[in-house]
Amino acid sequence: METAAPGARLPSTRALTAQYGASPVTVQKALRTLAAQGAVETRPGVGTFVRAVRAARPNDYGWQTAALGAPRNRVPQLSTALRTVPNDVIALHSGYPDRELLPERLVRAAFARAARGDTAVGRPPAAGLPELQAWFAAELGAAAPAGVAPPSPGDVVVFPGSQSGLSTVFRALVGAGRPLLVESPTYWGAILAAAQAGVRLVPVPSGAHGPDQDELARAFEQTGARAFYAQPNFANPTGAQWPPGLADRVLGIVREHGAFLIEDDWAHDFGITADPVPVAARDDSGHVVHLRSLTKSVSPAVRIAGVVARGPARARLLADAQAESVYVSGILQAVALDVVSQSAWRTHLRSLRHRLAARRDLLVGALREHAPTARVEAVPQGGLNLWVRLPDATDLARLVRDCEDAGVVVAPGNEWFPAEPTGAYLRLNYSGPNPGAFPDGARVIGQALARRQGQ
Ligand SMILES: Cc1ncc(COP(=O)(O)O)c(C=O)c1O
Repeated sequence: METAAPGARLPSTRALTAQYGASPVTVQKALRTLAAQGAVETRPGVGTFVRAVRAARPNDYGWQTAALGAPRNRVPQLSTALRTVPNDVIALHSGYPDRELLPERLVRAAFARAARGDTAVGRPPAAGLPELQAWFAAELGAAAPAGVAPPSPGDVVVFPGSQSGLSTVFRALVGAGRPLLVESPTYWGAILAAAQAGVRLVPVPSGAHGPDQDELARAFEQTGARAFYAQPNFANPTGAQWPPGLADRVLGIVREHGAFLIEDDWAHDFGITADPVPVAARDDSGHVVHLRSLTKSVSPAVRIAGVVARGPARARLLADAQAESVYVSGILQAVALDVVSQSAWRTHLRSLRHRLAARRDLLVGALREHAPTARVEAVPQGGLNLWVRLPDATDLARLVRDCEDAGVVVAPGNEWFPAEPTGAYLRLNYSGPNPGAFPDGARVIGQALARRQGQ
């Protein structure tokens, strides 16, 4: 076929069947595949012919450069956390848990039930299925201390994942050209969403004990910002949980400046040796906008998150969400609600805690043994990641490449810094596939570090 001249006629199906000893069905299938690839064309009643191959020439997209102009913000490259990699590598980079950590049986049963229900053919209300709104409100309300009014279901807007929620919150409550305070380091997806929304990021130093409150107050004063994006529980990437007292002080600073705290509670279901304590539960004055995602804990295929916002802010969010996607697929909402309403969901979360603890400890131990110059500054009490400080002289890009060449994929910490990184870090995720390979992964990192230090 490859050697046949354009226009040449292929032998008949019967001849090909005889020539290759294949059944007529197989020959027909092969011809259909070749036709779909554009390699042959069939002229009914005449025969099948080799098509003339158009000489491949590079396209000229230069006109788009003129049409698009320079981007308002430098567009970050695809995050390492989202890379898909072959099965035979040791993957410590991913942002989403491996399927052995998901409630797979519950998810499949929920899909089967949802397929028979009304949500498979109906349009849900714009803000979300009322029962799911009620679930998100009740989850947050359960943590409300005495004297603080819990949120109501009507305060909730359902989003297709909290990434979408973040984009909407940044667009609707901050707006292009205006400042947004963020912890540094912070979630790469928040940096991306802010860049796309034209929001100006103002980094506030943060670490194993949460953000520096004096710097936070100073940043509010200097910039006039009206919003602070933060992860008070098991932050991605540092794993930090704000110590008791810090949440109240941050809430005080935010209120004093007439601002919003945008609380990303992405790891609510991933407590290990501590439970998450949402700051939003302590606020009934509309200062805290709370994002809770089910994507990582229920299934990456069920992209569902709830955003709790009180007052006019909630109407702004709903308007932006409608402009973006009108409403969220009802069947996905029904599946998420079904899963989290089962008593087996609670059992799953309890067992998940133990499995995450074992994985976290395995990776921490392996690093201590095989990569002693890589320091885990604080073993996280929850979440999915270790934030690992490397010696200052490390050439991070080369180290990451060396690891990859040896079959270990790691995420360079630079992607989590909204400004220049303050040190060389790796973010290592312990919820990926094949934890049995963690010691091998740590060994490769240790060897690469030994090779690259001080070069
Ligand atoms: C801190 C944080 N927020 C939000 C998200 C996005 O979550 P979702 O999958 O619900 O969009 C992620 C995902 O990695 C995350 O790490």
